[in-house]
Amino acid sequence: MTVTVSARSGAFPQFQPVAGAAAAGTPPTHDVAVLGLGYVGLPTALALHATGHRVLGIDVDPDRLAAIGQRRVDLLHADLDRLDEALADRAAFELADEPARLAHAAAVLICVPTPVDPQLVPDLRVLRRACETVVAHAVPGQVLILTSTSYVGTTRELLAEPLAARGLRPGVDVFVAFSPERIDPGNDRPQSLVPRVLGGVTPQCAARAIGALKGYGPQLHEVSSAEAAEMTKLLENSFRAVNIAFANEIAEASRALGLDVREVIDAASTKPFGFMRFLPGPGAGGHCIPCDPYYLLWQLRAARLPMPVTEQAMSALAGRPRLVVDRIRTMLADAGLSLSRARVLVVGVTYKPDVEDLRESPALEIIESLRHSGATVSYHDPYVPRLSSAAGPLTGLATPSAADADLVLMHTLHTGADLSWLDGHPLVLDATYRLAPALGRVRL
Ligand SMILES: NC(=O)c1ccc[n+]([C@@H]2O[C@H](COP(=O)([O-])OP(=O)(O)OC[C@H]3O[C@@H](n4cnc5c(N)ncnc54)[C@H](O)[C@@H]3O)[C@@H](O)[C@H]2O)c1
Repeated sequence: MTVTVSARSGAFPQFQPVAGAAAAGTPPTHDVAVLGLGYVGLPTALALHATGHRVLGIDVDPDRLAAIGQRRVDLLHADLDRLDEALADRAAFELADEPARLAHAAAVLICVPTPVDPQLVPDLRVLRRACETVVAHAVPGQVLILTSTSYVGTTRELLAEPLAARGLRPGVDVFVAFSPERIDPGNDRPQSLVPRVLGGVTPQCAARAIGALKGYGPQLHEVSSAEAAEMTKLLENSFRAVNIAFANEIAEASRALGLDVREVIDAASTKPFGFMRFLPGPGAGGHCIPCDPYYLLWQLRAARLPMPVTEQAMSALAGRPRLVVDRIRTMLADAGLSLSRARVLVVGVTYKPDVEDLRESPALEIIESLRHSGATVSYHDPYVPRLSSAAGPLTGLATPSAADADLVLMHTLHTGADLSWLDGHPLVLDATYRLAPALGRVRL
């Protein structure tokens, strides 16, 4: 069901504290508390504030809170403007590190990280702790919405059941739902234009949660359960992983057949139905694609249900940075140079354009491996002044020049990057598939 909702200043008509509640008699001081103010939580808090909600932002990391207060955060320009407005509006936008204050919010959005461990098993420690906190401070009448990507059943197991064990019945005393985030960092697409999926633990939970998100996004698409909403998010990100892996495979096939994969993908993209454009690249980074599909694979492994397409895609993506290093080695060898004595300059190291986020960036593994092979590696990325790596820290070149390197790897192409210095360089490996063809440029 798709529900169109409109903004209403500070409105929480559904919030009716239940008699006997911990916060009974005390009206909520905030419409929404956002727990976890990272890449997802902060823009979400700002969007809620911008649409008239009184917002309490809570984070356990004092450095993060200080950075937000000083505007030292990786946000789109529009969100930086919103941050200025929010910070100037103390009455309706507050930052705190005391989880006990959750009890004074009408609704709580949980936006904490859900990574995988080195064995690619979901690392649920942060999410479990955050949910325990929310359950411990929940008060009757509150709406609790989990937004962190996780396995199917998380909302019920980590929120609904412990709340019921505390005597707070979901759908009666408290209202529990899952509504995954679809934010796209670095892309100037207003969050309000992106529909949001939501599933409640009960129909009453869904109805209250829809009310809590009023004004935040123009469209809420309600599904029948929290589990359906959890699975929706896993489908979305597994779909992307599989298609990026497929685009990489088509790139390899085109290369073997002497074809330009960009020409082929651009041509296929003219089809107005049944085709969706994905570009190949050096691998997949960020907090979603390299992690989320493992939540599904892990859960289904317990049920002895293989997902060979997703599994293959994930291992192909994981192997992509190794292929980049192999290509660099071959290009240098063809030019009569040995990787162990070569100077390699990596341009763009974040996992995607126009963000500071380095999490799971393929560039990290590529740089590590190049240095391990004896190459002298430098990098240039205006978003990343310094990098730490097992082989020692690296400081980015502020102004790269062609003379700095025997080979240049284009890893991430930020908007507006001036690449004029690259013209005429004899060895450029383009892992972005976005550079215009030129002499010396080779697509990965
Ligand atoms: N980053 C993205 O592009 C993106 C997009 C869509 C969905 N998601 C999902 O959103 C969730 C959050 O991701 P993120 O990228 O914002 O993570 P993040 O690491 O950027 O931010 C998480 C924040 O939560 C804080 N935190 C951790 N435990 C806490 C606790 N118990 N109480 C209060 N604060 C706590 C951390 O200090 C940090 O500031 C993940 O599940 C992710 O998969 C991320």
